[in-house]
Amino acid sequence: MYLNYKKTIVYIEERCDLMSISYNQQDKIFHLTTKETSYIMQLTNTGYLLHGYWGKKIHSPRRTPLRSMEDFDGGCQNPEYGDKTFCLDNVPREYPDFGRSDFRNPAYVIEQENGSKITEAKFDSYKIYKGKPKLQGLPSTYTEANDDVETLEITLKDKLTNIYITLIYSVYYDYNIITRSVKYINKGLEKVTLETALSMNVDFYDDSDFELINLYGSCARERHIERQPLGRSTHLIDSKRGASSHQQNPFIALARENTTEDSGEVYGFNFVFSGNFKALVEVSPFNMTRVQMGINDYDFKWNLYPEKSFQTPEVIMVYSDQGLNKMSQTYHKLYRERLMKSNYKDKERPILINNWEATYFDFDEEKILSIAKKGAELGMELFVLDDGWFGKRDTDESGLGDWFVNKEKLPNGLEGLSQAVHAEGMKFGLWFEPEMICPDSDLYRKHSDWCIHVPNRSRTEGRNQLILDLSRDDVCEYIIDAVSNILSTSKIDYVKWDMNRNMTEVGSALLSKEQQGETTYRYMLGLYRILGEITEKFPDILFESCASGGGRFDPGMLYYMPQTWTSDDTDAIERLYIQYGTSLVYPTVSMGAHVSAVPNHQVSRMTSLTTRAHTAMAGNFGYELDLTKLSDEDAEIVKNQIQVYKKIRRDVQYGTFYRLLSPYNSNKTAWMVVSEDEKRITVFYYRILKKPKQPVYTLKLKGLKEDRQYKCITNGQTYYGDELMYMGIEMPHMNGDFISMLYEFEII
Ligand code: DGJ
Repeated sequence: MYLNYKKTIVYIEERCDLMSISYNQQDKIFHLTTKETSYIMQLTNTGYLLHGYWGKKIHSPRRTPLRSMEDFDGGCQNPEYGDKTFCLDNVPREYPDFGRSDFRNPAYVIEQENGSKITEAKFDSYKIYKGKPKLQGLPSTYTEANDDVETLEITLKDKLTNIYITLIYSVYYDYNIITRSVKYINKGLEKVTLETALSMNVDFYDDSDFELINLYGSCARERHIERQPLGRSTHLIDSKRGASSHQQNPFIALARENTTEDSGEVYGFNFVFSGNFKALVEVSPFNMTRVQMGINDYDFKWNLYPEKSFQTPEVIMVYSDQGLNKMSQTYHKLYRERLMKSNYKDKERPILINNWEATYFDFDEEKILSIAKKGAELGMELFVLDDGWFGKRDTDESGLGDWFVNKEKLPNGLEGLSQAVHAEGMKFGLWFEPEMICPDSDLYRKHSDWCIHVPNRSRTEGRNQLILDLSRDDVCEYIIDAVSNILSTSKIDYVKWDMNRNMTEVGSALLSKEQQGETTYRYMLGLYRILGEITEKFPDILFESCASGGGRFDPGMLYYMPQTWTSDDTDAIERLYIQYGTSLVYPTVSMGAHVSAVPNHQVSRMTSLTTRAHTAMAGNFGYELDLTKLSDEDAEIVKNQIQVYKKIRRDVQYGTFYRLLSPYNSNKTAWMVVSEDEKRITVFYYRILKKPKQPVYTLKLKGLKEDRQYKCITNGQTYYGDELMYMGIEMPHMNGDFISMLYEFEII
């Protein structure tokens, strides 16, 4: 039997009054608990670390994850000669290796100098402590004083190479969250190459009936929800674009077949990283489901020299047994409170007016000021000057890299413009795209090797631009200086940080031949260094990230910039799908949402000003149209919308969000928020197309107190919470397409 274990294991334990992580020496069981969940691992007597359980909280586990293997494949290869029933291919493993009889996908692959990729990393030691380590050079969730967070580090060691692999688990007890990452340390004498270094692996052992949920899309069609049965096969969700991407968000969930918004089990995984990622789900013929997430091994290699270490980014794992809404709420709370680093993380975000769809590149100071003035009159709080204010930039064909003001358009410079905007009583914000360079720019004429490229090959342009090589320190420093210079010479309250193309011909002029495979990862480290330095230098500026809309809407960016431009599609109806999908993981406060002109610039759809505002009010609200062209009647409507949003803003941005009705399987969508003090609720209802002769629709609310009464400010009626939740509230008869309603309730 495999339980004949003789080796000595070193335990390092720093325990005092730790609550959420325990180790049972006798049964070699690690038990991580949050308020409502348990995560269990067990060591075999020969030092393999196995996964035991993850799900609803249980007391004191005794059971081994190793059940009888007798029914499994007769032809199983066995690395443990003494135990014929032990088969690596069929046990649930915590961090599986390569090439030693587990034929599923490995979590890591290390190439050694002799060309071998075989490792045999077995248990070495463990450590439990209060708090959570900072991940060197990377964004990650953090802790604040008095937080109930504990960390378990389990170190595995490959004896032959002396490579140590530390699996890091941090447990946010009250948040019901476990985060995971991995640190590699080379204590050997030879260099090795990390070819795959994922951040986590979970092997679910039960008879899984999981469905895979992912957020796919394109530019202007981001984060649509896909849900599909797994079957006995392998599914890969990834990005190879050098950004987390519009096409796949770095998020997946595994939901039971019967899981709904409000019931059933779901497991969520979100990667705190903004570059190439990979999420893989593999179901074996024995119904074991392996889930992995981490840096994409496509075009990735990391040279790990003796005495050096490599830290992977973090994955945030959520288990909910109360459906998708609970999973989303768990992510939303953590991201608002322990991911976003900004001074703005708890503050209400200003209602902005952005000039992009109003003017594109065609503006001058007078035009900008006329829009800002009108915005101020209507109650808006922040004017954002978008692309086109710098260098030679009258189209998207030139100028990126030349971060000095274009005096032809703005004769009084940014200082003058900013002062004039402030004089109207508004804050002033500015667009940048610092990671890019146009071949037609002074910067490129001076430094043509500063972009990502490979020698003697053409440089593929995207939107007439190339990407600056942020794996180089000199390039990072240029960006930090150029942006800081602008931010410190004018009064700037907000920055929109854009990024508008993906990586091609990846290579760096400064990295050696053997380091070329490090370029994309080093780019991300360079970007994080830049974002860290700039956001720390200018703590009072509100930063919003953007990548052709939502092409980098991920927790890595949210760490530095507490809001993201959700999509370049500002059509109110397209936005219902985009915001619905985005809400699966990301909080409303992080989602920039603007009212734009009709016909809509992306899809030419006509929708009412009211519906456009109701969609945008469900996020971080703003306008993006030429306010000087509004009729008096529309201006009055906008003024009222702003007053309404100011009233509900705190609740929308920081309340508890519930999806009520999916746009995917009906002609309608609805969602709602419950205020932090649970005294107010705001309900948004959207009916897409009018169908003839339909029964009256009754919308059922969620998250209320059954025995409390709620006064509906919108229709003047009073209801008990149970009536609103179980009987529902009748939606009025409404004619026409693209109609919406906003209801406000107050507890009495
Ligand atoms: C792409 C962004 O998503 C837009 O909002 C706008 O800022 C343009 N870039 C400007 O070039």
